[in-house]
Amino acid sequence: MKMIDAGLSDRQGRPVTLRGIDDENWRAVADVVPRDDQRDWVATSGARYLLLSEREGVWTSLAVYAGDEVAGHIMYAFDDDDERYWIGGMLVDEPAQRLGIGRASIVTLVSYLLELEDCDAVRLSVHDENTAARKLYGSVGFTELDKDEDGDWTAELTELTS
Ligand SMILES: CC(C)(COP(=O)(O)OP(=O)(O)OC[C@H]1O[C@@H](n2cnc3c(N)ncnc32)[C@H](O)[C@@H]1OP(=O)(O)O)[C@@H](O)C(=O)NCCC(=O)NCCS
Repeated sequence: MKMIDAGLSDRQGRPVTLRGIDDENWRAVADVVPRDDQRDWVATSGARYLLLSEREGVWTSLAVYAGDEVAGHIMYAFDDDDERYWIGGMLVDEPAQRLGIGRASIVTLVSYLLELEDCDAVRLSVHDENTAARKLYGSVGFTELDKDEDGDWTAELTELTS
C-alpha cells in the first residue's frame, strides 16, 4: 500500500502519515504499546493487531508515522454485513500520546476512506469509559449510534468536521 498523506502534522511539526506494513516497519509497529491504564480498551501491543490482520485477512493494518518514526497503529476493514468501512486498532505509542498524532491519523484515514467509491460512512467501536477516545472521535465528526451490553458504542461518521 502506498503512503496515505493528508498533509497533517503533529504538535511538533512532524508530518503524520499512514503506511502499509513492510519488512522495515513491522517490528516497530509490533512494539507500540498503550499506557497501563488504557489496557482495558485495546490490545496490549501493536503485535496483536498485526497478527489479527495477517491471520484473518479482514483488517488492513497501517503504521502511523510521525516524521520518519513509527508512532502507532491503525487498521480498517469493509464489513459485508452492514456494508460499512470500519476503523479499529487505533493505538498511539505511550510516549507519543497527546501530541496530536491520534487526531491526525484518524482524520487521514477517514479522508482516505471517504474518497473510495463505495464508502459513504465510516464506523468504529469505542468503550463508554474510554473518554479520551470518545472525545477525539466526537470532535472529528463521529456520532454515537448505540451502546451494546458490554459498554461499547458504535459510532458513525459521514463527514469530517475538522
Ligand atoms: C485515544 C488515542 C489514540 C489518542 O491519541 P493521541 O495521539 O494521544 O491523541 P491527540 O494528541 O491527537 O489528542 C486528540 C484528542 O483526544 C483527547 N485526548 C487524548 N488523550 C487524552 C487524555 N489522556 N485525556 C483526555 N483527553 C485526551 C483530547 O480530546 C485530545 O484533543 P486536545 O489535545 O485538543 O484536547 C491514545 O490515547 C491511545 O492510543 N489510547 C489507547 C488506545 C485507545 O484507547 N484507542 C482507541 C480505542 S477505540
